[in-house]
Amino acid sequence: MKKKVWIWGIIIIIVVGFFGTVEIFHFTSEPEFCAICHPKREPGPNGEVYTWEHSIHAKAGITCLDCHAKPGVLYYFERKIIAVKDPITQLTHSQKELDEMMAHPSAEAAPEQSCLFCHTDDFNKKYRSTHFMSLPTKFLRFRNLDYVVNPQFREAHGLKDIMKADHVAGYYFSHSEHMENFDNLRCTTCHFNEFAHPDNRINYAYKMKMVCFKCHKEEGGPKDSNCVKCHVVQNEIRHAKIKGAEGDEDVMADLGCDDCHASFKKLPGKQTCIDCHDGDKKFGETLVQWKNKIKERLAKTGKLYEKARAKAEKDKSLQKKFFEGERLYKTVLNDKSFGVHNFEYVNTILDKADKIFSAMQ
Ligand code: HEC
Ligand code: HEC
Ligand code: HEC
Ligand code: HEC
Ligand code: HEC
Ligand code: HEC
Ligand code: HEC
Ligand code: HEC
Repeated sequence: MKKKVWIWGIIIIIVVGFFGTVEIFHFTSEPEFCAICHPKREPGPNGEVYTWEHSIHAKAGITCLDCHAKPGVLYYFERKIIAVKDPITQLTHSQKELDEMMAHPSAEAAPEQSCLFCHTDDFNKKYRSTHFMSLPTKFLRFRNLDYVVNPQFREAHGLKDIMKADHVAGYYFSHSEHMENFDNLRCTTCHFNEFAHPDNRINYAYKMKMVCFKCHKEEGGPKDSNCVKCHVVQNEIRHAKIKGAEGDEDVMADLGCDDCHASFKKLPGKQTCIDCHDGDKKFGETLVQWKNKIKERLAKTGKLYEKARAKAEKDKSLQKKFFEGERLYKTVLNDKSFGVHNFEYVNTILDKADKIFSAMQ
């Protein structure tokens, strides 16, 4: 009799211990937990939870350990074991020293395999077939990454396969050609961390373009003077060539890009318009009106877009229509001039997108 009680006791301890341990893993993977030691509510070192909250990935439900450990549940555990030393480091260093450490993360802090796993098809497939990915029950599901299967995941989020697409976000740019030819190019060479830990004080577009021009002065490919070779979407908008939207060329379609973008460092502003239009201040006001109007419209279309996406996720038969609308909406976003490059036409594009999204509500 006594023996039985003992055995039951041990079984209960093991079961509670097991569930308890699993719960500890769940708990210590939450952003709220990371915030204990990465607590700042501003961009910069130790503000990583705050900046993540403002990132495009957070909006898509992608959390810390989806990026900060390689795909596969064993790498998730590996990362947890490595992190065991962090509390000691935290306690034995001053805040200044800790900030300094954060300013120089190791090359393995965010492994490229995780980025490729979500953002490509071939790598995802090959990796899944050669690695142990996940444990069988839902209770032992620790993060999203280990369950990502492409192209399904990618398509559900309206993403392109970066290694196959030659047009990304409105740019003529081949990831595969560049990544395969240059060993020293990592995702963060060009993307810094604006997609995960955005800092609104930094002009990322300017920083990225400076990376391109390190090579594109002498190493072949388009030179900095050949704007339209890279800037596909701006060019297509100016000449009303976006698929699925009829319209007219911009009134100023005969101008070259550098007629307005004369300086490499400074964006054109009111004075640019006024100077070329014989000092007429009215044209400065026109610029402000155009930008305000399109910003307003983008906010409105953005709301319809989010609603339509939610519908398309539930009802697969709506996906084709949704992607069509998404392409139009993102075309205007990616142009980034808020309508200046062809005001009438950009309104037409947004009309089309609104119509598609509204029909889905
Ligand atoms: C979409 C991927 C992604 C997600 C999600 C993400 N990070 Fe990061 N994180 C990065 C990248 C990329 C870097 C930069 C690494 C480098 O420079 O090599 C980074 C850097 C860091 C660093 C190093 C210090 C620094 O500021 O560069 C810390 C700490 C960090 N992240 C914590 C977090 C925490 C905590 C979360 C969740 C609240 C999180 N990250 C979510 C991609 C991500
Ligand atoms: C107990 C405090 C503590 C907690 C909790 C904590 N960290 Fe950290 N973290 C640190 C310290 C200290 C460092 C610097 C250690 C180093 O560079 O060796 C660090 C560094 C990092 C780095 C950079 C690693 C590198 O290779 O440079 C990342 C990424 C990171 N933490 C992510 C996270 C995530 C994600 C969480 C939540 C799941 C988290 N941390 C929770 C203390 C903590
Ligand atoms: C778990 C899957 C996952 C991982 C891991 C991941 N991403 Fe993403 N990424 C996404 C999704 C989903 C989106 C689209 C979010 C949206 O538009 O709603 C996205 C968007 C992006 C974008 C586009 C942002 C924009 O402005 O449109 C970039 C750039 C990006 N990711 C780079 C990276 C890099 C670099 C890494 C590795 C450090 C990474 N991602 C890791 C799923 C992932
Ligand atoms: C040599 C520079 C460079 C490198 C290295 C690079 N990218 Fe990009 N990436 C770009 C450019 C340029 C764009 C288009 C402009 C933009 O989005 O700002 C882009 C766009 C993207 C997008 C948006 C795609 C879309 O459909 O909207 C994703 C996602 C992305 N990159 C992921 C990655 C990942 C993951 C890595 C690492 C495996 C990586 N990139 C490495 C330059 C680079
Ligand atoms: C490490 C050097 C390097 C960096 C950085 C780099 N490129 Fe390139 N790129 C090249 C080289 C070299 C070629 C020529 C390849 C060829 O001709 O086969 C090229 C080719 C191209 C092409 C195709 C040219 C054509 O005529 O088909 C485009 C477009 C391009 N790069 C855009 C970019 C953009 C945009 C960036 C920045 C986000 C960038 N590159 C960053 C070296 C680089
Ligand atoms: C080698 C490819 C390439 C060429 C050629 C090129 N650009 Fe860019 N440019 C880029 C990339 C990549 C970015 C950053 C994309 C992003 O994140 O939005 C960029 C960003 C910009 C920006 C916004 C950043 C800022 O400065 O504030 C402007 C404006 C711009 N380019 C204008 C031009 C003009 C005008 C020309 C021709 C004189 C030109 N570009 C030629 C690739 C190129
Ligand atoms: C009639 C003048 C004009 C012409 C022509 C023009 N742009 Fe622009 N562009 C602007 C103005 C004004 C802005 C908006 C600046 C702002 O946001 O305040 C802008 C914005 C941009 C941006 C986004 C900058 C950012 O904030 O990241 C890019 C990139 C760009 N232009 C590239 C081009 C390219 C490439 C061409 C040629 C195909 C071109 N532009 C032709 C006036 C012009
Ligand atoms: C390099 C010279 C130049 C610059 C810079 C310039 N424009 Fe123009 N703009 C022109 C020319 C040329 C026309 C065509 C005139 C025509 O056909 O009547 C024109 C036509 C226009 C028109 C339609 C015709 C009219 O008179 O109403 C508007 C509106 C306009 N520009 C606004 C702007 C704004 C806003 C900016 C600043 C972003 C700007 N322009 C910058 C040269 C310029």
